[in-house]
Amino acid sequence: MTGNCDNKCEKDQRMNNFEYYNPTRIVFGAGMIAELGRLVPDDAKVLLTYGGGSIKRNGVYAQCMEALKMVEVLEFGGIPPNPTYEVCMRAVDLCRREGITFCLAVGGGSVLDGTKFIAAAVPFEGDPWLFLEKRGEVVPKDALPIGCVLTLPATGSEMNPFAVISKEATREKRAFDSELIQPRFSILDPKTTMSLPRKQVRNGIVDAFVHVCEQYITYPVNTPLQDRQAQAVLKVLIEEGPKTLTDPFDYDARANVMWAATSALNRHLQVGVVQDWSTHMIGHELTAFYGIAHAESLAIVLPVRWRLDKKRKGRKLSQYAREVWGVEPTKKDEEAADEAIDKTVTFFNSLGMPTRLADYGIDARECAQKVRARFNERGSAFGEHGDIDGNRAAEILLQC
Ligand code: NZQ
Ligand code: ZN
Repeated sequence: MTGNCDNKCEKDQRMNNFEYYNPTRIVFGAGMIAELGRLVPDDAKVLLTYGGGSIKRNGVYAQCMEALKMVEVLEFGGIPPNPTYEVCMRAVDLCRREGITFCLAVGGGSVLDGTKFIAAAVPFEGDPWLFLEKRGEVVPKDALPIGCVLTLPATGSEMNPFAVISKEATREKRAFDSELIQPRFSILDPKTTMSLPRKQVRNGIVDAFVHVCEQYITYPVNTPLQDRQAQAVLKVLIEEGPKTLTDPFDYDARANVMWAATSALNRHLQVGVVQDWSTHMIGHELTAFYGIAHAESLAIVLPVRWRLDKKRKGRKLSQYAREVWGVEPTKKDEEAADEAIDKTVTFFNSLGMPTRLADYGIDARECAQKVRARFNERGSAFGEHGDIDGNRAAEILLQC
């Protein structure tokens, strides 16, 4: 199944050393927004950040304000999906002007990521875009504390140190991370997700699913616990996800999907293993250039990324086929891998998720050229073998 080099490398592979620290307090369940009063410091001057107004329509804003009536609260709304540097910088000015001491993000991953950026940018003296442009070289030294009321299960941002920000001026979408921007607490009330449009529910399930895959479908390094944890999250998304589409008011399904999405990217699955993330990095370019939603971009790239690297990913793909999709153990690895890829596409489609560039009217050739140029210009290379560079990304996109 695997090439010679990989067989040799893999034989010696063992779990990587790791350090795991997760300082986010999770407060989970119906009615838990009422705990905000206890979770936010008494003397805080709070900036409540939100998006386009869903929280005002579904009652989440009213619940937050009720719980926060003992502290001073200012608001900043209008953080867009794929939060932009331009909008976030307006909130940074407001925080500085008003002496804000605590940021409370109320919404989905975009509001939270935008708030993470704002929190790190406020005390920073240079241009905070450098956190993204020179990730790892220019890092936040300080940040306002952040709390979160999550309304969309998808990104895992509520329990991780990552943020993804877009810059309109240059059509870029880039990520950064810092322990300092990890939420101090996140309130996850599954009831808040009942007002989500079907499309956002679908996107959330697919995003969480692909997060697991980026950490799981690589090559084995003898990590049976992490592998089984990854399989467990995938199975819950496959079993419970569709229920949230059929009956938006099924609390149990909402709760299970919400916790699965958090578990998919709270870094628990990535300890000790090798990771891919090339689907995400190519996907970010599709969003940056064509404006398609994050999860939509992933559903297009992932199946082709797997098909083109089926040999090297073969052992994990066939394990995934058997353990998650129940493919017969007697099937040959390659056949099992093919079946798993097909079943994944069928699952995405069953949620109403398209999986081809053409579904969005995007020309694969033009797209491949643009992404190749951007990867080359930045010297980017991703994937568990570090070889998904501009040319490989273009090769993938040409088949999307
Ligand atoms: O803006 P509002 O009015 O709140 O409406 C939002 C938005 O239009 C709506 N929505 C959210 N909760 C709702 C609701 N509508 C009704 N009822 C509710 N309860 O949903 C729309 C999409 O929201 P958004 O926050 O953009 O979605 P999501 O949570 O999927 O976040 C996507 C962003 O997160 C980034 C993505 O790249 C994208 O920018 N990611 C962040 C990651 C991280 N920080 O770890 C990892 C991910 O891979 C991802 O890259
Ligand atoms: Zn994602």
